[in-house]
Amino acid sequence: MSKPIITDHPLIQHKVTLIRDKNTPSKEFRELVSEIAMLMCYEATRDLPLKEIEIETPMTVTKSKVISGRKLAFVPILRAGLGMCDGMLALVPAAKVGHIGMYRDPETHTPHEYYCKLPADIEERDVILLDPMLATGGSAIDAVNALKKRSPRSIKFVCIIAAPEGIEALSAAHPDVQIYAASRDERLNENKYILPGLGDAGDRIFGTK
Ligand code: URA
Repeated sequence: MSKPIITDHPLIQHKVTLIRDKNTPSKEFRELVSEIAMLMCYEATRDLPLKEIEIETPMTVTKSKVISGRKLAFVPILRAGLGMCDGMLALVPAAKVGHIGMYRDPETHTPHEYYCKLPADIEERDVILLDPMLATGGSAIDAVNALKKRSPRSIKFVCIIAAPEGIEALSAAHPDVQIYAASRDERLNENKYILPGLGDAGDRIFGTK
């Protein structure tokens, strides 16, 4: 079981503080989530393989590195994961985007899948699954189950805030999925919200509360 990678870059930490603040309005919240996602994409793609090619600078011919043929797919878990997609695409515009729709039963807190549309060539792609909040881990586990039925090359999970309970559950269910988070928070409350957290990420991104 691999340990979660907590991205402690000062820019990420600063922006996470801003989105935790309950007074941050929706527009700024949305922009910050996108910026954090872009910075986390940088971390999550650190192991992409490179190859050398020959190019001509204005001065001379030289060898230089380019990413070697790996194809990525970003898969936001609806709806809050959508807020992370643009930031990721800003760094990897050639990536394809799939969508997985999950909702939480408000009484039992269990996740239910209602939509799954993935790129046709998903078997050839490394997937980065996106959800700003890893709470119980239920949605992430179900989303990974849905992805694994389509056999992508690999799966990583990128979130912004993770509860210890979610990290443990996802790592136990899918030890092959590397988790990236900007913060490991304290715990879940009785309604399965993360403390200190930032509230409902979807509502804050889309201004629905
Ligand atoms: N989903 C959220 O948006 N926030 C939480 O704290 C937990 C799950």
